[in-house]
Amino acid sequence: MAELSRRRLLGTGAVAVGGAALGWGAGAALTGREAQAAMPVVPFHGEHQAGIATTPQAHTTFVALDLKPEVDRSTLVRLMKVWTADAARLTQGRGALADTEPDLATSPARLTVTVGFGPGVFRAVGLEDRRPTWCKPLPPFVIDRLEQRWNDGDLLLQVGSDDPVTIAHALRVLLKGARETATVRWTQRGFRRARGTEPEGTTMRNLMGQVDGTVNPRAGTEDFGQLVWNDGAAQPWLAGGTSVVIRRTHLDLDAWDELDRPGRETVMGRRLSDGAPLTGNAEHDEPDFGATGPGGLTVISEFSHIARARSADPRQRFHRRAYNYDEAPAGADVSDSGLIFVAYQADVDAQFLPVQQRLAELDMFNRWSTPIGSAVFAIPPGCREGEYLGQSLLGA
Ligand code: HEM
Repeated sequence: MAELSRRRLLGTGAVAVGGAALGWGAGAALTGREAQAAMPVVPFHGEHQAGIATTPQAHTTFVALDLKPEVDRSTLVRLMKVWTADAARLTQGRGALADTEPDLATSPARLTVTVGFGPGVFRAVGLEDRRPTWCKPLPPFVIDRLEQRWNDGDLLLQVGSDDPVTIAHALRVLLKGARETATVRWTQRGFRRARGTEPEGTTMRNLMGQVDGTVNPRAGTEDFGQLVWNDGAAQPWLAGGTSVVIRRTHLDLDAWDELDRPGRETVMGRRLSDGAPLTGNAEHDEPDFGATGPGGLTVISEFSHIARARSADPRQRFHRRAYNYDEAPAGADVSDSGLIFVAYQADVDAQFLPVQQRLAELDMFNRWSTPIGSAVFAIPPGCREGEYLGQSLLGA
């Protein structure tokens, strides 16, 4: 149906729209090149989907959708073809096929569109046997205060860019394409510092002021490849794909305000000024968890976030790509802020889960951070030109 209305739009009154779009495409070449110089374009096609190993953009919006009850495999294939075609164009600075505002597409600003499948997809299309065993809601943790409005979802759209106008436009196009197939379940808007305000490669700060994201596998390395990209051993269709865990976590900034600076650094095990471990001098120094201070206590508390999050098992690691959120406060509150915690890993159960379990059991930081939303998605591999996202699952 989405294709039908698209065809109708392009075939009738939309000849004018189509013509305008073509004219715009040609005329915008120079503008596009200029924009690319300032804001490079992230390739859409490839072995893996973009938006995972991509250096995080300043903004990312995560949208979860629920499939309509009547959706079957062919309807979903149609949606994936539409999304793929639209994302392939928009990310390269071209208006989508039935774009009513193609002028908004000229500055992709590193736009990426990443698509994920929640557990419900496999049920809906009769492919339950191809659902990865970890593609299900996480078990409950004692620290959770989950609100249904931030949980789960059948489909995920992760749309990132250095420019929020670009995201608004891309999302509108993509959601219009999904109108007859799915409804929006939740939307989470996240941000980091604006591009250009800090040197490239600076680790982000969350709204507690902490340097957040220091210990992370480096994109492009073998380590990253092994931790993040699924090898397809359990589910061949997922080779080159991954998984994402999204945990919306409220941060109690008012209570954090009451803690002095040394107290805050003890909770994390790292310095606020530069993110260095309390036993080191620079951000990327290895923490020395055995080092003791004058009282005989370890310098980095064994209950600190980094001590609890670190495992002796090198497999219990993942790629964190979090975003801040800051919503309008309710009532007398000054702020409603937190972190959209985002972790990619080849296998949720083997990598993410044991770490989350350990943190839920004990982590000084739990006093100030409360998970209020939780969702898990399988991220299909990338696609080549002429293919569509999810083809290895839906097309075979
Ligand atoms: C949502 C609230 C959270 C905040 C604000 C937060 C913040 C931080 C900060 C500031 C660091 C130290 C610097 C760094 O390496 O990035 C850190 C480290 C880390 N965090 Fe979190 N974190 C949160 C939740 C989580 C969750 C839910 C997990 C996993 C279940 C997690 C896993 C880790 C890991 C693995 C490290 C690196 C530990 C190491 O080996 O040094 N964090 N986090």
